[in-house]
Amino acid sequence: MIALRGRRIVLAVSGSIAAYKAVQIASDLFKAGALVDTILTAGALQFIQPLSFRAITHRLVASDLWDPHHPSGVLHVDLADFAEALLIAPATAHTLARLALGLADDLLGCVALSTHAPLVLAPAMESRMWLHPATQQHLAALRERGATIVEPGTGHLASGASGIGRMAEPATILGHLAAVLGRGGDLAGRHVVVTAGGTREPIDPVRYISNRSSGKQGYAIAEAARDRGARVTLITSAGLPPPPAVTAIPVESAEEMLAAVATACREADVLVMAAAVADYRVAAPAPEKIKKQDERLTLDLVKNPDILASVRGDFVRVGFAAETENLLANAAEKLRAKGLDLIVANDVSASDAGFAVDTNRVVFLSPDGVESLPLLSKREVADRILDRVVERLRARHA
Ligand code: PMT
Repeated sequence: MIALRGRRIVLAVSGSIAAYKAVQIASDLFKAGALVDTILTAGALQFIQPLSFRAITHRLVASDLWDPHHPSGVLHVDLADFAEALLIAPATAHTLARLALGLADDLLGCVALSTHAPLVLAPAMESRMWLHPATQQHLAALRERGATIVEPGTGHLASGASGIGRMAEPATILGHLAAVLGRGGDLAGRHVVVTAGGTREPIDPVRYISNRSSGKQGYAIAEAARDRGARVTLITSAGLPPPPAVTAIPVESAEEMLAAVATACREADVLVMAAAVADYRVAAPAPEKIKKQDERLTLDLVKNPDILASVRGDFVRVGFAAETENLLANAAEKLRAKGLDLIVANDVSASDAGFAVDTNRVVFLSPDGVESLPLLSKREVADRILDRVVERLRARHA
């Protein structure tokens, strides 16, 4: 995860069976290039050993506020100063209560009171503890002070019961952490609207016309914008789970996508249309499943609205051009016809670019000229697009 590279994280683990997932979080953070110091509370030590974290992070793992061997003698202040973010995962009901009250009787409590770093909490507990008014009041107090709460999910709990209280998955927690670290990025205060996926145009209640778009490129743009501080609305017809800390609006057809884009763009700074919108839809979808009868079946198609061409306003508009021939000429014509700030042309007949793969090879066309990019990950393409967007936003402001 690019957003975590080189970032200084204090990962605090409190006493829950979900502590084993904190090892995965530490490992994911390390692989993403973050520098991770770890705090294990007394409760965490009942579930997990310091060595697990030390072996993964190759950095400090501490539990004892009074550690006589710490060189400076003020371990909590050193950790508080080091942290760009304090991530507590899992955060037990007891830990939430202590944080809300500002108790400073252990290392975590002292670091939490000493640091200016933002607090990201991933609670884990039994449903009744989560739903208890005391826990909810502590959560409200922490939220009011600016903490980010990564909501627990519903599922199998340690007691054997099923209910709310399962700690969120590591990828979700890291997505929220990336969003928090991205505050103050070059898209801070901006609202970025992104579309993704291939629209589905119904033939009857069980069949549809669509295309091979997976949504990967659009999701990468949404995540990159989030990690650069933007408020992101992702309008998606892809079946992928929504990225953490992004507002996702699921849609099916081009007409639904048009309505959602028009609404979102009423207060947008940027629109990036990465979706593969079907150019045609069935004029009159059958109300019941079409029966297999005749040798031939003819569908009457009508043109869909062109979303990008019709949604205009005082915001930066970026389109994609998916081509299998005459890439530059076709893209240049779309740039002109749709009045765009930038069009991202990709050859979707290539095996390593375009639909459903993790890489893309794109050419930027704008009123200022043409730039060919090498084969990049879709996330890298996303960041290069957003570099251009930031330039456009600055130019508009100047
Ligand atoms: O989703 P992935 O598997 O990651 O694949 C990524 C991608 C290949 C889908 C993506 O990189 C891409 O090229 N998206 C645009 C696909 C497309 O519909 O291209 P187009 O050349 O047909 O359309 C030009 C632009 O107009 C696009 O921005 C499109 O979103 C928009 N459009 C098209 C038709 C329409 N009715 N309304 C539109 O707004």
